[in-house]
Amino acid sequence: MTTLRLKSAAACPADRVLAGFKCLLFVACLLPLARAAWIVLSGEAVNPVEFITRSTGTWTLVWLLATLAMTPLRRFGVGGWPLKCRRMLGLFAFFYLSLHFLTYLWLDQFFDWAGIVRDIYKRPFITVGFAALLLMTPLALTSTQGWMRRLKRNWGRLHRLVYPTALLAVVHYWWLVKKDLSQPLIYAAVLALLLGLRLWWRWRRPSGV
Ligand code: HEM
Repeated sequence: MTTLRLKSAAACPADRVLAGFKCLLFVACLLPLARAAWIVLSGEAVNPVEFITRSTGTWTLVWLLATLAMTPLRRFGVGGWPLKCRRMLGLFAFFYLSLHFLTYLWLDQFFDWAGIVRDIYKRPFITVGFAALLLMTPLALTSTQGWMRRLKRNWGRLHRLVYPTALLAVVHYWWLVKKDLSQPLIYAAVLALLLGLRLWWRWRRPSGV
């Protein structure tokens, strides 16, 4: 009993630091949206629809890669906090993706469903972007503790879909860029590193990753 009380008392400051850090991270994840809204509303964006599409697309990719970076960070011995922030980052990736998709549906296509279906079918970068959206949706929907309990081991299996999602996301960016490939190349390199580390650990200790 005494040990238990001592343990919870000792855990409190750490818990409070983590809660504070998560609050800061939450605000940080909203900053790109606030900045984009400011730029659009102040009339600074030359082409607001293009600007919103690009900004939300970029931040979807950033938060997706940040989510994938949490496991390697933990393995590099920075403590347990990365895994506690992973779900928030993943949900923010999905939040920005929803805005990205909504911008496309509404401000770009004006809900012209026939045109949208044609676009998904005919333009390869839209096809892979849409495939990434389809893969990511069940991950966001099942991110709660309740779904984790219900799906048991299958939860982990399902959430491995984050790897093909990230691959499709990078391919989507790569295919839409016409000239300067330097930006998609940076994202591709980061993804290759994050996936490469996992493969390396799996190869060294097959049950470990
Ligand atoms: C995980 C999924 C996705 C990610 C990570 C993503 C990311 C991106 C990125 C990084 C850009 C370019 C930003 C820039 O030029 O600086 C972009 C542009 C774009 N994305 Fe996505 N996207 C995703 C899904 C989708 C989906 C589902 C659609 C529509 C069905 C879509 C439609 C577009 C369009 C129309 C553009 C603008 C292309 C242009 O400027 O010519 N994306 N996306």
